[in-house]
Amino acid sequence: MKPAAATMLPRALPVLLLLLAAAVTVSAERAPTLVFILAGQSNMGGRGGATSGNRWDGVVPPECAPSPRTLRLSPSLRWEEAREPLHAGVDAGNVVGVGPGMPFAHALLRSPACPRGAVVGLVPCAQGGTPIANWSRGSEMYDRMVTRARVAGTGTGRVAALLWFQGEADAMRRDDALAYAGRMEAFVRDVRRDLAMPNLLVIQVGIATAQKQGKWLELVRKQQRAVRVANLKYVDAMGLPIADDMTHLTTQAQVRLGKMLADAYIATI
Ligand SMILES: *[C@@H]1O[C@H](CO)[C@@H](O)[C@H](O)[C@H]1NC(C)=O
Repeated sequence: MKPAAATMLPRALPVLLLLLAAAVTVSAERAPTLVFILAGQSNMGGRGGATSGNRWDGVVPPECAPSPRTLRLSPSLRWEEAREPLHAGVDAGNVVGVGPGMPFAHALLRSPACPRGAVVGLVPCAQGGTPIANWSRGSEMYDRMVTRARVAGTGTGRVAALLWFQGEADAMRRDDALAYAGRMEAFVRDVRRDLAMPNLLVIQVGIATAQKQGKWLELVRKQQRAVRVANLKYVDAMGLPIADDMTHLTTQAQVRLGKMLADAYIATI
């Protein structure tokens, strides 16, 4: 017995190490089952806690805490455990804070309607300050989003919806505001075609502020409600708390918006 056990251990060691390495690899490459694309401008990128001074305040409410069941597609296109700020490395050149993505995933996973064992994959794609013209087919933002969505939808995950929070930059000029519904309809059609998902659910957030306090907030909101494409849901951010900069949702507002987005998604399943 004793000599056998003594020779077993050294022989088993490489096997044990291999198994350990395999386990680590599997957990590092955990794949989502439900994938959500998050796009738009700064309020999707997240400025909760990041509107005064030059840094994010680091406050992460429990509704935005990381969880092994919430992943994000990293800037280098790998799945990793998601954490605030979700858009770090994506919403380039900006101080990013809390957005609606993490509280959305949290509310969804907590819902009894959520499929058992679901793993949510968030695909941050937002970029601060971008008018919808920056998202037309073939633009840098559009191509980045479609590339990331394609990678995210390869494998076990299914792209379940596109969450869209954008339009503040289009409230600065009347012509842009007036063109909004048409541009949004074209955007949705193009994304669905390029992802080969003709019925992709789109949840559009009604904007609550205008960039640089532009004059055409109500006109953009009216246009948002006038967008006519199938399978489009509307969630209104108007009335949620706004930071002192008069432009960005606060952290608590983002937590509430995340829940509203989750409710809107859950109503479709
Ligand atoms: C948005 O569009 C403007 C005008 O065409 C351009 O100058 C700017 O670089 C674009 N920004 C992004 C992030 O695509």
